[in-house]
Amino acid sequence: MSPALLPERVALVTGGIGGLGTEICRQLASAGRRVVALDLASREERVAAFHDEVAAFDGAISFAPADVSDFDNCRAVVERIEQEHGSVDIVVNAAGITRDASLRKMTPQQWHELMHVNLDGVFNLCRNVIDGMTARGFGRIVNISSVNGQTGQFGQTNYSAAKAGVHGFTMALARETARKGVTVNTVSPGYCDTPMVAAVSEEIRAQIIAGIPVGRLGSPADIARAVAFLAADEAGYITGANLPVNGGYFMSF
Ligand SMILES: NC(=O)c1ccc[n+]([C@@H]2O[C@H](COP(=O)([O-])OP(=O)(O)OC[C@H]3O[C@@H](n4cnc5c(N)ncnc54)[C@H](O)[C@@H]3O)[C@@H](O)[C@H]2O)c1
Repeated sequence: MSPALLPERVALVTGGIGGLGTEICRQLASAGRRVVALDLASREERVAAFHDEVAAFDGAISFAPADVSDFDNCRAVVERIEQEHGSVDIVVNAAGITRDASLRKMTPQQWHELMHVNLDGVFNLCRNVIDGMTARGFGRIVNISSVNGQTGQFGQTNYSAAKAGVHGFTMALARETARKGVTVNTVSPGYCDTPMVAAVSEEIRAQIIAGIPVGRLGSPADIARAVAFLAADEAGYITGANLPVNGGYFMSF
């Protein structure tokens, strides 16, 4: 179906003003979706820059402040978005943080902060849209995990555990909603050219690139393309899947 013939659908992207989130918003808007980028209000400068970056989409992309680690906040923001824009049919959970330390040095605070955002955040959003999606008989949920959830990474017991947990969540929810027209899938990016990876030293960056068969970091567009594919109305027979987008960095069945 051409985008013009598709029903207008509202897509909510958490972490929506981040390196990957911004491009995910753009590609979903290009596919005819009305997009709401949900992110922390505290990132004022980024919010302003985000509005510039999506200005070309003529109001199809808007911003909603919310903290995904706060269940009540998520419920309130979903209610407000549904009043303003209509039912949320697509959710992309891309909000994420790192709190790296080897386990011997990791504090309970580093562990819990990360879990609250990277894992609880997925529950908090999905729990607040799932009744509407199943009642209407349509939904697309795409959870952003990471190759480090598949392989484990030194200094990231918290991040690797949360990201592996994200795909467990995906598979379980996919089973619960498969008969209701709701698909739930995971996209697992490899190393991408975003501020999260720019923060590592030049030497480590070169080592990372040397280990990627495709020979470069992923671009936000590489990841957003996979998300848009899974979020399409036509993608109804793919559910509970993990789609790795990592340049061949980690290959498995
Ligand atoms: N960049 C990479 O190479 C890479 C690789 C694998 C996985 N990922 C995952 O992709 C996702 C996006 O990463 P990114 O590179 O765009 O990072 P980013 O830091 O640019 O974006 C993450 C966004 O999440 C937002 N966020 C953080 N805490 C939040 C909260 N409590 N409530 C709402 N929003 C919150 C941040 O403000 C930020 O805009 C993350 O889940 C990350 O773990 C990234």
